[in-house]
Amino acid sequence: MGKPKPGKDGFPPGPKTLPLLGSMVDFGTNDAFLAKWSELGREYAYGSVFSIKTEGRWVVFVTGWEAAREVLVKKGLDFCDKPRYPSANRYNPEYKGIFDAPCNDQWKCQRSFAHTTLRSFGFGKVSLEGAIIQEVMDLMKKLQDQGDKPLYPRDLLGAHTANILFSITFGVHYSHDDPEFQRLLDCSRTLMVDYGSSRWSTGKDMAQASRGLEKFVTGQIQSHAESRVAGEEARDFIDAYLAKIDEDPAAFTHDELAYVLVDLIGAGIESVSFTLLWTLLYMSRYPDIQDKVHEEIQTVIGERNIKWEDRNSLPYSQATLMEIQRAASLSYMVVRAAYTDSTIFDYKIPKGTEVWVNIWSVHHDPKVWKDPETFNPGRFLNEDGTELVRHEGFIPFSAGRRGCMGESLGKMELFIFFTSLMTHFRVETPPGEAPPTSEGVLDFTRNPKPFKVRFMPR
Ligand code: HEM
Repeated sequence: MGKPKPGKDGFPPGPKTLPLLGSMVDFGTNDAFLAKWSELGREYAYGSVFSIKTEGRWVVFVTGWEAAREVLVKKGLDFCDKPRYPSANRYNPEYKGIFDAPCNDQWKCQRSFAHTTLRSFGFGKVSLEGAIIQEVMDLMKKLQDQGDKPLYPRDLLGAHTANILFSITFGVHYSHDDPEFQRLLDCSRTLMVDYGSSRWSTGKDMAQASRGLEKFVTGQIQSHAESRVAGEEARDFIDAYLAKIDEDPAAFTHDELAYVLVDLIGAGIESVSFTLLWTLLYMSRYPDIQDKVHEEIQTVIGERNIKWEDRNSLPYSQATLMEIQRAASLSYMVVRAAYTDSTIFDYKIPKGTEVWVNIWSVHHDPKVWKDPETFNPGRFLNEDGTELVRHEGFIPFSAGRRGCMGESLGKMELFIFFTSLMTHFRVETPPGEAPPTSEGVLDFTRNPKPFKVRFMPR
């Protein structure tokens, strides 16, 4: 296939392009961007796959569950590559680690090791659960001390989820006012916020944040290498990786380890804390649903600490959490590149083409969801509300071989934090104020606009 042209030679159709200017589509900002994307999807063939030229390169836009499943699941290997942005030369020129890595053996090695190791430190196991419960207890103590003063809890939630990740990866637990901790949190937020715009920007802020984190993780790697006793049980993720370097120094290196750690921090803190912010936002908007969650927990669990194994006895609480993830669609879009020449339905997609999958549209696809704009936890429950109903098109962690590597950890954190808060507090909009809007702000993730709530002890 020669140079792609929309609708020619099998390439997906799209708006006309102008020399130098590209497709000239005004996507608008924030939620309007998602609406415009769906509108363009409806305008072109199949209503779900179209192409746009932006910043001199072609991007194929994918909307709705059927087309997303084609890219992420059915042809998961064909589309498991990542685009290479010039901005990445500043912060990860060799595309090391996991998140930015191309689809090759090195990525597979790093991903598979990180996944397995984090599991043995507690992905789904008791030790990690203990760390999460401890953080929740600390958080609830702080909220009790806050009394009925309204609060925007973004930073508080970020600090608690960060401490969980730091304790598993580095064996470090910080006091919230530690300046080093604050610096790390700032870097992690910059990575998360700026990653989205790095497709267009020079990536200067990201490079700075990434260097800040690298400096810290390199210091941690060094001190672990000095204090670790070879052959003894690993104390944390770094120790386990260092043992792997002894075993296979060709695939596992200090340099790769630094990038993997930066990826875990970048991908594993704000994703959880911002989802938790959405849970508080939706619960303050829907007090009746919040009361039903509380009632279910009171009836089944009572006052004791909630454990991960309780999840199947709390179907309404789980369904509410799932509905919040669907409605909010924190990861509203995933970006891939074609690893090989492939097709999406009948369209030809040349190797290397960038493909953006609209996860928000999957979660609001009327072919999959009845009344997708209505907030209704009941859609995840069977008729008598006693069991969860699985929906194929529910993919908050994406899907397929490149789907979220931290899904199990993320799910456990969300469940324990959400249900514990619902047990002990009523989350309320401050008196005299309107409930917070469910409109999102599109950074790398779709985040709530700042809002305040009160945590009233139950
Ligand atoms: C609510 C929490 C989370 C959400 C919604 C979420 C969502 C996602 C999504 C949508 C992707 C992109 C997948 C794709 O391209 O198809 C992803 C990738 C990733 N996530 Fe998560 N994530 C969460 C928590 C975590 C945690 C706790 C960790 C690690 C500690 C983590 C580590 C990663 C990594 C390393 C990748 C890159 C995987 C790869 O490219 O192979 N995530 N996540």
